[in-house]
Amino acid sequence: MACVELKNITKTFGNEEIIHQIDLRVEDGEFVVFVGPSGCGKSTLLRLIAGLEEITDGTLEIDGEIVNELSPKERGVGMVFQSYALYPHMNVFENIAFGLKLGSGAGKEKIREWVQKTADVLQLGELLHRKPRELSGGQRQRVAIGRAMAREPRIMLFDEPLSNLDASLRVQMRNEIAKLHNRLQSTMIYVTHDQVEAMTLADKIVVLNKGHIEQVGSPFDLYENPESLFVAGFIGSPKMNLLPGTLAKPGADTSEVALDGIGPARCACDSSRLEAGATVTLGIRPEHLQLRKPGPDDTPLEVMNVEYLGNEAYVYLDVPGASQPLVVRQPVPCPVVPGQSLVPVISVDSAHLFDDNGQVLRRTRAPAANEVGDAQLEGAQG
Ligand SMILES: Nc1ncnc2c1ncn2[C@@H]1O[C@H](COP(=O)(O)OP(=O)(O)O)[C@@H](O)[C@H]1O
Ligand SMILES: [Mg+2]
Repeated sequence: MACVELKNITKTFGNEEIIHQIDLRVEDGEFVVFVGPSGCGKSTLLRLIAGLEEITDGTLEIDGEIVNELSPKERGVGMVFQSYALYPHMNVFENIAFGLKLGSGAGKEKIREWVQKTADVLQLGELLHRKPRELSGGQRQRVAIGRAMAREPRIMLFDEPLSNLDASLRVQMRNEIAKLHNRLQSTMIYVTHDQVEAMTLADKIVVLNKGHIEQVGSPFDLYENPESLFVAGFIGSPKMNLLPGTLAKPGADTSEVALDGIGPARCACDSSRLEAGATVTLGIRPEHLQLRKPGPDDTPLEVMNVEYLGNEAYVYLDVPGASQPLVVRQPVPCPVVPGQSLVPVISVDSAHLFDDNGQVLRRTRAPAANEVGDAQLEGAQG
């Protein structure tokens, strides 16, 4: 068990700074996920914590002790990589025992006991005699986790451990890693570019962008209160609709905007520091939009496609001049059909507004609960 503290951590490769002055605290027993697009520095940051890369500047503390100069083993970290990196000629038992034999000088009986305990936790007990080639992808990844666990590290680090697995196995392993954390209550830092993995596993998500931290928070916090366009667009699947426009009427309580290709909309936020005519982006999640039939003064949008997912449906509307369609979640059965012309209704309290630097404007009302409704759609077909 251990807490980890990064203070002003910088990493330079050659003369290129890749990680910029990162401050972060990971609490004892916490499950922290680093998320961000490819190349933003997730693996580098994890390797700095592991001791696999030298820290250029700043200090790394584990349980209050500065560990910059310590080896991975001395830091007490165990690491699981995307490629399982198992020894093909060794069976499961030998692969898990490998790390133990190297360091501890423990007796045979003790090692057998440790391996058995680890294998039981990971449900590998029946497979100890098998070679890696005789295992499924998920089983191999469990062996790799077992090898990292066997030394009972203070901190477990994972670098995209599931990205080599197919979709259904990924969901299954995601659940197993969550269970493992519940059982062991050890500090875990987990890297992924998959925001669904981040949302489902994390106590705390760290969103990285180009080597700096965009935002840190619980999954709920990042979903409900993104501080920047970057986080708004990254967290959530399907993505938040990000609609460019101009500020028609600034306000301290409610802002009126004119959205390109859509028309007027309102947002419960404080835009009083901006001038009318300022470039803004309105963010609205698919579940915070409704659809209604057009009236005489409306400029409706055309339905391009309806995606039926069984428990819900997504309606894609063409926005003139925009590269992305507007996505609206609808309950099922969904009466909307392609070719129909409908007007999107934006929930004022659930919309987010961003300035032209991509920074959010303070919201003035609590976001409404998910308000997917079809009342206004009744009779839309026809
Ligand atoms: N050993 C290295 N030498 C030089 N550049 C590197 C090295 N490792 C990573 N980088 C660069 O650092 C940046 C971040 O890489 P990485 O941490 O692997 O990103 P991520 O894991 O988020 O995809 C990339 O631009 C990558 O090319
Ligand atoms: Mg990486």
